[in-house]
Amino acid sequence: MLNTKRWSVDLKKDLSTYYPQIKQAALLLQQNEVVAFPTETVYGLGANAKETEAVKKIYEAKGRPSDNPLIVHIAEVQQLHEFAQIENEKVKTLMDAFWPGALTLVLPCKPGILSKQVTAGLSTVGVRMPDHPVALELIRAAGLPIAAPSANRSGKPSPTLADHVASDLDGRIAGIVDGGSTGIGVESTVVSCIDEIPVILRPGGITKEALEEVVGTVNVDPGLTKKDEAPVSPGMKYTHYAPEAQMYMFHGSDEEMQCHIQKYQAEGLKVGVLTTEEKKEWFAADVVFSCGRREKPETVAANLYRVLRQFDETDVDLIISETFSEQGVGSAIMNRLQKAAGGRNLSSLK
Ligand code: TXA
Ligand code: MG
Repeated sequence: MLNTKRWSVDLKKDLSTYYPQIKQAALLLQQNEVVAFPTETVYGLGANAKETEAVKKIYEAKGRPSDNPLIVHIAEVQQLHEFAQIENEKVKTLMDAFWPGALTLVLPCKPGILSKQVTAGLSTVGVRMPDHPVALELIRAAGLPIAAPSANRSGKPSPTLADHVASDLDGRIAGIVDGGSTGIGVESTVVSCIDEIPVILRPGGITKEALEEVVGTVNVDPGLTKKDEAPVSPGMKYTHYAPEAQMYMFHGSDEEMQCHIQKYQAEGLKVGVLTTEEKKEWFAADVVFSCGRREKPETVAANLYRVLRQFDETDVDLIISETFSEQGVGSAIMNRLQKAAGGRNLSSLK
């Protein structure tokens, strides 16, 4: 058991107030320890991307399969040239438009710089510059490229609060920098820039629509939607984000969803419902949680993982979730919900 240090940063105050704490966290990274930190998407679990000794500790703390590569986080574009190649103009256009921000670019990796554990044996590397003052200052202070997956135990919903990190990883990591709640709430969009036309490997905080406005056509990895094709991004093949109770995605009318709730309750099961502000008074179930406003999908993204974790504090036997439009950030929301539900869907009883 490690004694996990915790530092709190109040973002309303001048960041320089916290430079000493951030320095301590950076020192641990330089010593090849792992430290969790806030980003604008979810909390990340950081380690020195150049040292296998450090990167191994990420996989151990998370219980993560070793064939799933990590995203390397940088604070300045200059850092990227050491370990990745920029081979087309579109990459520069995307970096200019969206960095710092919730966009991970998969690029050809230069050999011999990063630990092989980071790329899990691939010849490419995912890179992103997070749009969060604490993350940027921590990476700058460490002076290293920082490998960082989401700071949850493998399979659990990603953490959007430092308390989520602590509940999964306390005693397993060297430290947690607490910067309050993360903003976007779902992870970055992962885009492969290996071929001429960029391909979305994981939908996320930056929408397909926003990407296309800047670089024209962007494709979506068919493995994300087709059952018989393996996704290019190794992480997308695992069940993920799952609450402890089995979850089902419901497709149909509110009345039909209520029929399902009553059917399960008649079998003696406790039913949880994942819904929105607009409908939370409407459903009668054992537990009803709202994850935001249907009209404002960004609010749903921001609250989604927190609410999935909240179900674990209840005694529901199953969860029935509403479905959302796949427009804009809705595509990331539906991708995460489908993974949390392990592909289990319910429709009309008739
Ligand atoms: O918002 C985020 O991206 C957060 C924060 C902490 O930055 N990080 C994050 O990392 O979500 P992680 O490890 O939970 O998810 C990384 C995803 C996985 O699905 C992984 O398979 C994919 O990115 N990935 C990483 N490198 C890749 C590569 N070279 N080729 C294809 N997919 C890659
Ligand atoms: Mg993750």
